[in-house]
Amino acid sequence: MPTTRLVEVDPDRPDPAILAEAAAILRGGGLVAFATETVYGLGADATNPEAVARIFAAKGRPSTNPLIVHVPDLRAANPYIESCSGRVEGLAANFWPGPLTMILPRTDRLPDLVTAGQPTVGIRVPEPAIARSLIAVAGIPIAAPSANRSTGVSPTTAGHVRADLEGQVDLILDSGPTPIGIESTVLDLSGDRPLILRPGWITAEQIAGVLGEPIESTSHAADASTPMASPGQMSVHYAPTTPALRVERDQLIALPRNTGPYSVIVIGPPIESRPDDPTRQSEWVGLYPLADATRRLYQTLREHDAMGQTFLLIVMPPDSPEWRAIRDRVQRATRPWDGRSPLP
Ligand code: TXA
Ligand code: MG
Repeated sequence: MPTTRLVEVDPDRPDPAILAEAAAILRGGGLVAFATETVYGLGADATNPEAVARIFAAKGRPSTNPLIVHVPDLRAANPYIESCSGRVEGLAANFWPGPLTMILPRTDRLPDLVTAGQPTVGIRVPEPAIARSLIAVAGIPIAAPSANRSTGVSPTTAGHVRADLEGQVDLILDSGPTPIGIESTVLDLSGDRPLILRPGWITAEQIAGVLGEPIESTSHAADASTPMASPGQMSVHYAPTTPALRVERDQLIALPRNTGPYSVIVIGPPIESRPDDPTRQSEWVGLYPLADATRRLYQTLREHDAMGQTFLLIVMPPDSPEWRAIRDRVQRATRPWDGRSPLP
């Protein structure tokens, strides 16, 4: 595939002719990138093993990492899931369409490749009209990971998709930047107790409120001794190519010295007294409040990654529930620094 076509579409009222064309590409086994409320997805027919294989090839994704299957509503998921518990119905009624992925026991009507051979499948109903109409018009479930190269930063604009996957995707539907900006909450409902595998915009507290039971989360610091429940828990993920360090806000005592130009990205409430920068080599950017921080996080990482800085220094948001998803993503994208010793 030499070049990738990019077409602008209205996110709320997508042109039916463009939807029909994109749907035909999907039904024919091709790849279409489209926006959801979280990030851009790289879509393919989830029932077609060759189409699904093209997703893994385009992203350079290991075949051990399962894909989320996107459907227009809960009913459309029925052929692919074993049963629909009260928990699932309650969560769907409250959070779908929306940024919640439910991991459920699956039937054999999806190729093994989609679920990486796991007995479960991740199901999600995205919210924006562009995503839901595309899936509905195509009339098939759409497997869609984030539309970036594997282990890279997720795309929040069509330009990010093109930068990563030019020539690897048949069509990019450009409906503008995605409103939430970080990936969906992944909730495993296949065991006795619900378990958050990936924190997101929908929090454990909100889910607990609907289910009336406490919700546990897997610890993200997956080390070699604990088996991974979800391959997305790999500790290096979402990473920029420029060396990236993180520091807790109360640990940042002095800015680094004797280095080349670097970027400081402060996530969360602005830092009251900005440490002195003896070299005056730093670019300083703040991401706050929460909705702006999630929406702009990946764009900011990509932008500063492209500046040729010697490193990126990320000041962490507070360790409180609303910042959990962002802390999770930054922890995967960076190495820790104590805020004072020479840079690692
Ligand atoms: O917001 C999102 O979820 C975006 C948009 C495009 O929908 N998609 C997305 O997909 O982030 P991806 O493939 O980049 O991340 C999916 C995560 C991975 O961590 C994967 O391991 C996990 O969900 N996952 C998918 N199916 C699973 C399963 N059956 N069991 C456990 N984890 C699963
Ligand atoms: Mg991804």
